[in-house]
Amino acid sequence: MDQKIIIAVDGYSSCGKSTIARALAKKLGYLYIDSGAMYRAVALYFLRNDVPFQVEERDLQAIEQALSQIHIEFRFNEAIGQQETFLNDENVEEEIRQMFVANHVSKVSTISEVRRFLVKQQQKKGEGKGIVMDGRDIGTVVFPQAELKLFMTADPVIRAERRLAELQGKGMNSTLEEVLHNLQERDRIDSTRADSPLKKADDAVVIDNTHLSPEEQFNLALNYAHQRISLNSNSAD
Ligand code: DC
Repeated sequence: MDQKIIIAVDGYSSCGKSTIARALAKKLGYLYIDSGAMYRAVALYFLRNDVPFQVEERDLQAIEQALSQIHIEFRFNEAIGQQETFLNDENVEEEIRQMFVANHVSKVSTISEVRRFLVKQQQKKGEGKGIVMDGRDIGTVVFPQAELKLFMTADPVIRAERRLAELQGKGMNSTLEEVLHNLQERDRIDSTRADSPLKKADDAVVIDNTHLSPEEQFNLALNYAHQRISLNSNSAD
């Protein structure tokens, strides 16, 4: 019997991390966790409740108090064949993808208290292995022991075009300039923050998907996964 492994998918904003991670999990029968959705849910709660998280007005006590009120869950929606994010029992899947959340989430994710709060929950979900998690610090901080680490990247303009098409497909209004600015700004904040910045783990495999179709990327990632699973199963024999 194959041993289950942990697959970490990290990389820049709007690189197709969640598409690959979700497809891998489905194919392998693993649990899929979108760690970015957890940061987005926290950002949404902070915005809705006027929690002072901006650098100039940051109140750590208020932040800790707010975190103690936050419960994040993923529930599978049979109708769409995907899981959705719930914040304190409310389905916030659509709202957390809106630009007003995207514009603040990177700032919220620089706060160490927020990271500690979410990393603990993410590590708990990986205890039984058989998990694919995507994010920014999965291979470096959350699961440094992950058997497979993928690091995704692509040309920013291509990423913005793909993201815009996705937003428009969901009926959300935006422009290429706005989306490009947002993702470059998030990349900048995510890569330069002091606590667990976005960076490639030394043992991660890079997938630059600028010129790859979704199918090509998936096959590449699945090959890596099969290699690591069989390596892991042989070493456990
Ligand atoms: O994957 P995403 O674009 O939905 O993530 C939203 C933001 O959350 C991203 O700009 C940075 C933050 N994030 C993080 O700091 N660490 C993670 N593991 C996942 C996301």
